[in-house]
Amino acid sequence: MKYTPSIVRLCLALASGAALSAQTPAPIPSLQLDLQAPGAKVSPALYGLMTEEINYSYDGGLYGELVRNRSFQDDTHKPAHWSPVIGEGSAATIALDATQPLNAALPTSLRLDITAASAGHRGGVANDGYWGIPVRSGTDYRASFYAKTAPGFTGPLTVSIESDDGATVYAKADVSGLTADWRQHTVTLTTGQVTPTAKSRLVLTADRPGTVWLNLVSLFPPTYKNRANGNRPDIMQLLADMKPAFLRFPGGNYLEGNTIATRFDWKKTLGNLTERPGHMGCWSYRSSDGLGLLEFLHWCEDLNMQPVLAVYAGYSLKQEFVPAGPGLEPFVQDALDEIEYVTGDVTTPWGARRAKDGHPAPFKLTYVEIGNEDYFDKSASYDGRYAQFHDAIKAKYPALQLIATAKVKSRVPDLIDEHFYRSAGQMQADTLHYDGYSRTSGPKIFVGEWATREGEPTTNLNAALGDAAWMTGMERNSDVVVISCYAPLFVNVNPGGMQWKSDLIGYDTLTSYGSPSYYAQKMFNTYLGDTVVPIQADAIPTQTWQPPTPKNKPAPPPKQLPVLFFVATRDTSKGILYLKVVNAGAAALAVRIDLKGAVTVASEGAAVVLSSANPTDTNTITEPTKIVPVTGKIDGLGKSFTHTFAAYSVNVLTIQAR
Ligand code: AHR
Repeated sequence: MKYTPSIVRLCLALASGAALSAQTPAPIPSLQLDLQAPGAKVSPALYGLMTEEINYSYDGGLYGELVRNRSFQDDTHKPAHWSPVIGEGSAATIALDATQPLNAALPTSLRLDITAASAGHRGGVANDGYWGIPVRSGTDYRASFYAKTAPGFTGPLTVSIESDDGATVYAKADVSGLTADWRQHTVTLTTGQVTPTAKSRLVLTADRPGTVWLNLVSLFPPTYKNRANGNRPDIMQLLADMKPAFLRFPGGNYLEGNTIATRFDWKKTLGNLTERPGHMGCWSYRSSDGLGLLEFLHWCEDLNMQPVLAVYAGYSLKQEFVPAGPGLEPFVQDALDEIEYVTGDVTTPWGARRAKDGHPAPFKLTYVEIGNEDYFDKSASYDGRYAQFHDAIKAKYPALQLIATAKVKSRVPDLIDEHFYRSAGQMQADTLHYDGYSRTSGPKIFVGEWATREGEPTTNLNAALGDAAWMTGMERNSDVVVISCYAPLFVNVNPGGMQWKSDLIGYDTLTSYGSPSYYAQKMFNTYLGDTVVPIQADAIPTQTWQPPTPKNKPAPPPKQLPVLFFVATRDTSKGILYLKVVNAGAAALAVRIDLKGAVTVASEGAAVVLSSANPTDTNTITEPTKIVPVTGKIDGLGKSFTHTFAAYSVNVLTIQAR
């Protein structure tokens, strides 16, 4: 029998003591798992990742580049994050210079005038990085820059990674042979034995006067899988550990842009970095677009994920939109080109372009999302826009599954993307959200953004209790909820790094960590199973929850919520049962567990537990592993046994049972 709303009502009634005499001892909470009953299939792609440029997710985050404002586009008035290096006996000035463009894409360069310098009295320029430059022992950094000089100056320039105050030089190398024509110079900087620090900067200096223009000044540390122009290894490892099935990109609001002109224009994110102008993002800062379309695909490849590709659908955040019809055609064509770039073989124009960019093999693509949160489009143009994209994409790529971001009437999308940002109580009050969803008609569901928003910059244990409760509902219904992803994924925890409170993974310049919510997701996905095992629950205690007060309305009455949330699945081929239980209550709870219909049950199993004393406990950049899952042996298992779930805990029991 399935865990249905009527069973929940029964549990609540029993738990509150209704229909029981005063003498009757409180019934023991129980979960009866029916191993013989048919269960829904679990989608193997249920858990993926959602990403966009927010909270310094790429620049100053996952993307390996260490130089901030490397192409001098971030501020049209001043060379933001650059400063002159001067000392006793030296003088230098810096300024933006639009008269010496590197090319059309990077039209503004930095002019460095060293007006006084001599041996031991250097002049130059420094970049302060993204909240510093991460310096580690025995590490190779690849520094590169484009330079041209005024007559009379050929260098050398000394490139160094040094402390903020210039007192300590961690690594340096000289670059000579500068000329009057733009040329790229590359050098490796290798650190010795150092105490890791971010109180550091990249410096370019000379010990003689001269004028030099600079552009695309870059510094890369080692990257994940040593990809050129690649990603930060520590953050990639956190993601790899989640074993995500897919990556939804490039947004989110970042796909849409504030305006049509500042949408994610994928064609401008391809090829050599010198050809990428970058663009103003919608989260208050510019993007270099160094992490462009092909880099998103590399990211997928490196973590064995499929892309869930969101294509711009003619609507931007400030309500600019392109109505369906001939005006929308270029955007539809852009989406078709983008799909061809991802999936086309090298004989197609955009497949050939991908090969030229360094990746001849096409990528596997199953899902394409048309827009983002188009229910915010006040013009109500989405139905028509969706239909135009739907027809064109289906005509050329009939196998693709198309995702609508709002309800549409004119076509039946394959999936609808639904978003949930809530408190823990709201998540726990709605775990049956998809239990009644039609199994016979209508689109499947993509929960494309969801999160319990408690705690900042990253979420706390109570959020993880809300998230895990919500995941029990998605997993139980993953015959209809076929893909899902949490948002936002990343936050740079440095001052000014966060635009959106409550994020999954936090980092600063040197280190990174997962929130309790991160670990809850990792647990759920590690022990996914392939088939849902129906559960009947009895006598689950409840606790009082005050729902939030809607704007301009009286406070709603308090509600009783169960303290326990659960789902069971099994790995059919391995004969393993995964029982996931969330105890959101303040007390440990002993629960009788019956494995109805089991033929054999191993007496020993394992319990993975995520818990802490207080629901507001959390992980931070300075205490990154305060709350992590702990795996222990459990014994005394059988067709019926009792297990105690700790207060405020997320649990996965793994049991050999057939
Ligand atoms: O996740 C943050 C934002 O929330 C996303 O960009 C947007 O799609 C949603 O409104």
